Amino acid sequence: MTYDSTTTVAEIVADRPARSRFFERLGIDYCCGGKRPIGELCAERGLDAQSVLDALSAFEHAAGSSNVATDLRALTAEELSDHIVARHHTYLRRELPRLLAISTKVIEAHGDREPRLGPLNGELTALTRALERHLDREESSLFSHLAPNSRSAHSLLPVIAALEEEHREAGEALRRIRSLTDGYAAPEWACNTYRALYDGLRELEADLHEHIHEENNLLFPRILQEIR
Ligand SMILES: [Fe+2]
Ligand SMILES: [Fe+2]
Repeated sequence: MTYDSTTTVAEIVADRPARSRFFERLGIDYCCGGKRPIGELCAERGLDAQSVLDALSAFEHAAGSSNVATDLRALTAEELSDHIVARHHTYLRRELPRLLAISTKVIEAHGDREPRLGPLNGELTALTRALERHLDREESSLFSHLAPNSRSAHSLLPVIAALEEEHREAGEALRRIRSLTDGYAAPEWACNTYRALYDGLRELEADLHEHIHEENNLLFPRILQEIR
């Protein structure tokens, strides 16, 4: 498939999910803000869209045949939601409490030397609470109603709109966390626990971007398509 500057980043990533890593590295939003043309998103960062597309094909060439990912677009809404729960919801329910515990330890040890650790812990606490509620709501109000015949467009539309809004808020929290940690770059004096926290947060950001992309750009449109 050939792309030009009018193709949206969401479409480019939907065609091959492994591309999320490429856009992640460039700091180009492919989930919440991904429904915009690549030309526009590149221009905002002072990048040339054609050079970015060329770099993308070089990246895929280098990744070679190991880059074959499951085509999530071939799945039904119900299958896709099972994949999202197994891959992303399970990860978040395990990882968020772990990161919060590490963050508390790091403040106790280094809070006086790095004053942004307090606000970072505050952001992480709020994000953890919001996401735990979000995952429960998503599963009980949406994912459990995806079996054929158990759906009504009328009842699912407002649920989807509310979930998309929560995705946008989570995306904003990630941007604040990224800025409080200087892009997850631990200071050179940081101990291993400190580094583990920043590594974990970097992974959380990447996973959450992928997760939101799979919901906003694949699952939700698929649900709307199936209930119409
Ligand atoms: Fe989710
Ligand atoms: Fe979600």
